[in-house]
Order: sequence, then C-alpha cells, then structure tokens
Amino acid sequence: MTRTPVNVTVTGAAGQIGYALLFRIASGQLLGADVPVKLRLLEIPQGLKAAEGTAMELDDCAFPLLRGIDISDDPNVAFAGANVALLVGARPRTKGMERGDLLEANGGIFKPQGKAINDHAADDIKVLVVGNPANTNALIAQAAAPDVPAERFTAMTRLDHNRAVTQLAKKLGASVEDVKKLTIWGNHSATQYPDVFHAEVAGRNAAEAVNDEKWLAEEFIPTVAKRGAAIIEARGASSAASAANAAIDHVHTWVNGTAEGDWTSMGVVSDGSYGVPEGLISSFPVTTKDGTFEIVQGLEINEFSRTRIDASVKELEEERAAVRQLGLL
Ligand code: NAD
Ligand code: LMR
Repeated sequence: MTRTPVNVTVTGAAGQIGYALLFRIASGQLLGADVPVKLRLLEIPQGLKAAEGTAMELDDCAFPLLRGIDISDDPNVAFAGANVALLVGARPRTKGMERGDLLEANGGIFKPQGKAINDHAADDIKVLVVGNPANTNALIAQAAAPDVPAERFTAMTRLDHNRAVTQLAKKLGASVEDVKKLTIWGNHSATQYPDVFHAEVAGRNAAEAVNDEKWLAEEFIPTVAKRGAAIIEARGASSAASAANAAIDHVHTWVNGTAEGDWTSMGVVSDGSYGVPEGLISSFPVTTKDGTFEIVQGLEINEFSRTRIDASVKELEEERAAVRQLGLL
C-alpha cells in the first residue's frame, strides 16, 4: 500500500540544528521507517540560499522516504497542510546569557507562526517548539492558535531528559536503557528540576540506589540544568546534534508511544496537575499512545522536589507576565 506522505515543516532550516535534523527526518527516524515525508522548510530571506544548499544535499542522499522539499520565507506557505511542525528557527544564546534573555528577541517570531499554523496547518497538526525560551515561545504560539487544541503545542525538554538519563546511568554504573521513569519538571532553563525520586535503574528506585542527597543537590541537578551553558562554553556554540536528536526522540515518542512501564518528559499545557497553574507550558512526566499524551498522575512529591518544581514554575509565570507586557500574549 502506498502511504500518503506526512508534511513536516521545519523552521530555521538553515541553522545548525536544522542541518543536524533534516537528514534524520528524511531518512525515516522521526516518524518511522515506513512513513514517507514531505519537507517544508521555513527560513528568513537571508537564510533561503543556505536552505537551498541543504535541500540540494538532501536530494543527493536519494532518501527513499523523501517525497519533496519546499522552501519558503512565508509562514502561511510553509505551514500549509503541515502535519508536524518543528519550530527551531530562533536566535541561540551566547556565552553569559540565560535563555530568558532571548524572550524579547525570539518571542516575536512565534506569534505570527502560531497564527499561520492556526490558519493553514492540517487538522492533526502536532507542534514541537525548540527555539528558546522554548516553553514560553510554545505558549505564545499556542495562544495565537485558538482553533488548534492546546495540547498539540509542546516544548522540548527531551534534551534535558536525555542528559539526566546519562548522568544517572553513569553515577550508578548502569546502562542508559536501564533508566526508566525519570522526570524533568518545569522550564527548559537553569531552574528545571530533574527528578529521580520515581525513577528506576535496573528495577531499583534510583534515589535509593544513589542514596546521596548531597550529590543530587550539588552535582546531578546543576550538571543537567546547566548543561546547555557548559556546551556553549566548550563548543563556542549552543548544542546542535544533541538538540536535533532530542527533537527526533520527542516527536517519535509522541507519535509511536512510550514503552510499558516507562514515561518521558515533555513541555505541555498544564491542566493544573501537581499545582502547576493551568495554561502554562511546563515539563511533566507523560505517557504517550497513538499520537496523544497523558500527564502521569498520582506521584507523591516530597519536600525536596516540591521546592524545586515551585521555583521553576514561578519562573514560567514570570516569563508569561513578561511576554504579556510585550503584547505577545
Ligand atoms: P542557528 O542560529 O544556527 O539557526 C537558527 C536559524 O533560524 C537561522 O538559520 C535563522 O536564519 C533562522 N530563523 C531566525 N528567525 C526565523 C524565523 N522567523 N523563521 C524561520 N527561521 C528563522 O541556531 P540553532 O543553534 O539552530 O538554534 C535554534 C534555536 O534552538 C535557538 O533558540 C536555541 O537556543 C534553541 N535550542 C533549544 C534547545 C532545547 O532543548 N529546547 C536545544 C538547543 C537549542
Ligand atoms: C541547550 O539546552 O543546550 C539549549 O537550550 C541551548 C542553550 O541555550 O542552553
């Protein structure tokens, strides 16, 4: 049976994440090895020539699943008929900046893109916002798309999740596949909270296996939360291949489901769960199935976790207030 191609729109296609992402989408790693895709690339006018060069390289790979590439600098064109949209295009921070410093520079990009998604995307559109500050940009885009169900707008904290999985596995001398049920709560920022209290490593409770609250507070959490800055310091540029990898993981898991007995972390619109104010886009533990997700319910939140979740959620509320001031909400 010939399947209809899935339209995947990628913004910031000529950027460093775009370059690491597009070839993996076209090879079937985003949606599955049997799912043909059409790529719709959105760039600003200055980025169009480089996007064309990347499209030439995509052609030169002769990917069997790639059924076409369109390039545009008009969001109304690039999002027309989109089934999946990866909003990557935005300025990255440089040394010494926090991601929140990008609010004014990048926030303005996401309102018109949300509107274009609202007016032109396919009914089953799923959106992942990667461009920073990702949670609040996702909120801006979602608010500009009142006809699209709010839960279709998500923000990427999967990179933080993957970073935390590796740090925990290393600490316990385990393999990354042995780590389950880890959670990133809150904002994709230095206030995020990687929570191991419900995590399991090779079937054992991770917090009990670590048995070292000092290591959690002083090493694990800061290492994960400040990893983006450490990469910028070391590479002289913000993370790209690992960010593209996380975007692939996020959408793949959303579409294909989480494994039995595990969950993942996604920035999603809060329904008030765990005391996170309704409407904020905050990272939660989620299970996914058949292209939908549910926030994992009923987890006991201890004092150590509560303080940290609240601090990150407070920052999200402050970012929401700041973009309201800027007229972006
Ligand atoms: P980059 O500067 O290499 O590329 C960004 C691209 O976006 C450029 O080609 C630029 O021309 C394009 N662009 C700018 N405005 C646009 C618009 N309005 N429409 C379409 N395209 C536009 O940056 P990068 O390293 O690829 O990073 C992109 C974003 O992703 C940054 O904001 C970065 O901070 C963020 N990021 C997020 C995560 C995460 O975990 N959520 C991880 C890494 C990077
Ligand atoms: C990351 O986490 O690597 C990205 O969000 C880039 C950054 O600014 O930290």
